[in-house]
Amino acid sequence: METILSYILFLTSVAVILVTFFFMKNRGLPKGPWTLPFIGDTALSDNKKFIFFLRNLESKYGHIFRFRQGSRHVTAVGGLENIKQVLEQKSLLPYCHWSNYITKVQAIQGPSWNGDELLKVLSQMSTQTADNFLKEKSTLEATILEEVRFLQRELSADKCRPISMLNIVSDAVYNIVSAITIGERLEFDRPSCRRFKQCLQEISRNSNFGFSENGVGFLPQVSPKKSSKLQDSIKYVQEFLEPRLTNHKTSLVKKEIPDYIDVCLNYNAREGKIINDEGILQGVINLFTSGCEPTISLTMWLFLLMTRYPELQKKCRHVISMQVQIRDDECVSWGARDKLPFIFATIQEAQRFSNPVPYGYPYEVSSEIEVGNYRIPEGDLLLLNYRSCHMDYTYWKRPAEFRPENFTDSDGDLIHHEAFLPYGLGHRTCGYKNIADQVLFIVFTNIISKFNLRAPEDNPNPSLTAEEGLIRYPKSYHVIPYPLEDEKQ
Ligand code: HEM
Repeated sequence: METILSYILFLTSVAVILVTFFFMKNRGLPKGPWTLPFIGDTALSDNKKFIFFLRNLESKYGHIFRFRQGSRHVTAVGGLENIKQVLEQKSLLPYCHWSNYITKVQAIQGPSWNGDELLKVLSQMSTQTADNFLKEKSTLEATILEEVRFLQRELSADKCRPISMLNIVSDAVYNIVSAITIGERLEFDRPSCRRFKQCLQEISRNSNFGFSENGVGFLPQVSPKKSSKLQDSIKYVQEFLEPRLTNHKTSLVKKEIPDYIDVCLNYNAREGKIINDEGILQGVINLFTSGCEPTISLTMWLFLLMTRYPELQKKCRHVISMQVQIRDDECVSWGARDKLPFIFATIQEAQRFSNPVPYGYPYEVSSEIEVGNYRIPEGDLLLLNYRSCHMDYTYWKRPAEFRPENFTDSDGDLIHHEAFLPYGLGHRTCGYKNIADQVLFIVFTNIISKFNLRAPEDNPNPSLTAEEGLIRYPKSYHVIPYPLEDEKQ
């Protein structure tokens, strides 16, 4: 009897110690669901389910919550003030971009590099490339306009017929990013270029937040079939890029603007440390995967919104025609933007309303930080919920509606909003936001000033619900492009 009693006493003491330890360890941590240790929530194996999972937790726990994925904890922070507080604390490291995990390019290894250093250098190369293109305004504009003319030609060829614009819009965007990264226009009637784009899209759309590397090893994040398809895509992309890298090394042709590969090679020639070939290719792939999909998504949202709200489309066209003289073969240029605040307001409202990158790209907490009344421990992954800022009643009237007037004052001038963060905030902010703004403005103005985009009769009110994921796309839709010059006759 005595033995049983001491046994019970021992077990009770252990339980009390464990409960106290658990309680102390979790004190001050954000609330979240209980999940199995080491396994976490399997919903995260699918990006779409993952976004719904985050939304559910947000409605249950509010702007700040924490959950487990495998052996890692993830904290999500929403609300403008919370996001600003987190970013001020400077204890964050950019967590590898999600596509790095999927591409598995080990660019970093070398005696003098470590992972964080290489990411930093690749990011510097990316910023320098963007700066070069922004300095040479006319070349960048000429590149975008070349793609606009292709788009216009394609729409004219399909005039008065229902078409999905996704393919032609994505060709245009891939070509702009291709000019920036590898200095080449991709000829999409060549099967190799088409396959290159398909493979990059496969990589972008099937990437996850990179949890698999730190998550549960024994629960597959992507199915084996999908995984082998992805590996094939990665191999193809690398094989497509390798000869281009070699050409850059041997070519003596001086370009107007050095592309990303040139910037990396110039760095290697200047500095003692070398970014190896895999590193350069990783940077190129990163730029394609970070840059193309949000730009395509937003352009598709803009055209969808114009089709859904024909009166607004008419107003945009009218505003452009009042301010800019466009003769037959001329285009609206970036220089016209100051005269067109309403157009900018429409584009910005499309960015706010559609939230193409709702959670930005993840961070890792390098030493404990505070947010609100909570602490976020070292080692957590951190997601910043930018979408929450765009949907906050404190900053926006009727945030669930699409209202370009959110961005104009009573005189029609453009208003700056602190809570408008389509390109993120802090050290991971999109370094290409000025280029992206130019692309959106030039493509948008030059398509709607030449075409009336109408919804097909069988679907007069196309849905505004999104295809959820790391990048939010509109659901697939069709438009009928009517050339305005035909309508005038
Ligand atoms: C409308 C189009 C675009 C949108 C909405 C967008 C949005 C974003 C956002 C939200 C982030 C993450 C910011 C954060 O987490 O704080 C980001 C990062 C980034 N974006 Fe963009 N972006 C766009 C276009 C582009 C383009 C055209 C390029 C390049 C050609 C580009 C390259 C990058 C890069 C390199 C990063 C950093 C990725 C990293 O830290 O791993 N983006 N962008």
